[in-house]
Amino acid sequence: MPLFQWNQEYSVNVGQLDEQHKKLVEMINTLDNSMKSGDRIETIRVILDELLDYTAYHFETEERLLVQYGYPRVENHRKEHDALSWRVLDLRTRFDSGAGVEAKEILDFLTDWLKNHILFSDKQYGSFLNSKGLK
Ligand SMILES: [Fe+2]
Repeated sequence: MPLFQWNQEYSVNVGQLDEQHKKLVEMINTLDNSMKSGDRIETIRVILDELLDYTAYHFETEERLLVQYGYPRVENHRKEHDALSWRVLDLRTRFDSGAGVEAKEILDFLTDWLKNHILFSDKQYGSFLNSKGLK
């Protein structure tokens, strides 16, 4: 059973962003599988880096579209992204320094955050972007 199962409930009804969310889900599950199968820490670190890089890239894409189409709550949305980014950076720093943070903790935190963020924040911009002609 994958850690994160994407389904239609998570759709924000904008193709490009749904595709990026699905890619994030896929990367989350890849990292989870890597940990479960006991991969070396170096491998886990590489996959974690890719996931965090892609998360940052995805946030940039969303924010650029929200600015471009004049989404009224863009600043709030950006703040949510920033808060997650800082929190993950902190966890990542403590993971790297061996200060009692496990990769699994970062993965679980990011997964929970993403599920909630898509369902309660991202879905709010969907109909707005649709009304501006973006699908
Ligand atoms: Fe978002």
